[in-house]
Amino acid sequence: MAHQFKVGISGAGVIGATHADALSGLENVTLVAIAEPREEAGLAFAGRWGCTHYHSYPDMLANADIDVVVIATPSGLHPDQVVLAAEHGKHVITEKPMAITTEGLDRMIQATEQAGVKLAVIFQNRLSLDVVTVHRALAQGAFGKPILANGTMYWHRTQEYYDANGGWRGTWALDGGGALMNQAIHTVDQLQWLMGGVQEIKAFTATLNHQIETEDVAAAAFVYTNGALGTMAATTCATEDRKPRIEIIGTGGRVTLEANEITVWESALSREEIVLTDADRNLVGDWRADEPWGTAHRRQFRFILDAIENNHQPYVSGTEARAAVDIILGIYRDANG
Ligand SMILES: NC(=O)c1ccc[n+]([C@@H]2O[C@H](COP(=O)([O-])OP(=O)(O)OC[C@H]3O[C@@H](n4cnc5c(N)ncnc54)[C@H](O)[C@@H]3O)[C@@H](O)[C@H]2O)c1
Repeated sequence: MAHQFKVGISGAGVIGATHADALSGLENVTLVAIAEPREEAGLAFAGRWGCTHYHSYPDMLANADIDVVVIATPSGLHPDQVVLAAEHGKHVITEKPMAITTEGLDRMIQATEQAGVKLAVIFQNRLSLDVVTVHRALAQGAFGKPILANGTMYWHRTQEYYDANGGWRGTWALDGGGALMNQAIHTVDQLQWLMGGVQEIKAFTATLNHQIETEDVAAAAFVYTNGALGTMAATTCATEDRKPRIEIIGTGGRVTLEANEITVWESALSREEIVLTDADRNLVGDWRADEPWGTAHRRQFRFILDAIENNHQPYVSGTEARAAVDIILGIYRDANG
């Protein structure tokens, strides 16, 4: 019989609610606990999802029934919370960014390895049929030799958004950055995953339209490990949210992804000629372009829990997920001298 996972979530905020909803659709999961210091929010969450509210995160970890912890707290808290979960022998799934410093990344990976528990990071935008198809198409040389790969993310975030929930967003201590570390990290991760890593970075960042410590606009240029060049431009100052976009130009064609959907495909190979592996198909399963928010989280949770049950690398593992944070930290180093 399949293992019945007992899950505790840390953080009853925006994404904690998405997680509870996503987990409620999985037959092998029972959500048993929420750790949330805001009493009212924690009790409301516990009532809505039929689980126990803990005011303190360490108290939740003392519940021996819990075998998986999901971290949905401000980003700067992720390392300490992941390390503590590992020390209690719990598998951990954390939201992006997994950490906001190199020291945090190292500590999380080391602690989970030492404890023999899995560490997985939510990057739900990787789990789309079109993104996986582009990844496989690049491996098949469908666009010739990759030359240029550009990402853009133009979103709208109000000052109220930054000031909400204690004002942790847009701070160095808890958000670890701005438009890049919080919002555009998904696109940075996709770019580096599709192109096989970033080798060199030049960048500018600025804070032009919000009262925050960190950047609300960034422009970076990359040399990818495969020798191609590229850019990432991101802002939270746009008048409305535009679809994040990735354009890849090769010597034999080009491809564009908009909000994880292929909108331009120019290649000698048709999309049907791209051969997905069983693992690719497993990963994207029942993906639909217009699927409701939270569906990709559910798909990734299912995949991660399967990795825990069958003792293989979860998707996306901490070791793999750190690449996007390492790149963004590299952008900040170059931009801030
Ligand atoms: N994957 C995605 O697309 C996505 C989307 C939104 C947010 N996120 C990530 O999720 C994380 C949380 O973001 P959010 O928007 O939900 O923030 P939020 O402010 O809405 O929620 C965070 C919650 O954590 C609680 N909290 C604070 N300290 C705590 C502690 N010590 N123990 C337990 N709970 C504590 C807060 O009271 C709050 O309820 C961030 O890392 C963010 O980057 C990811």
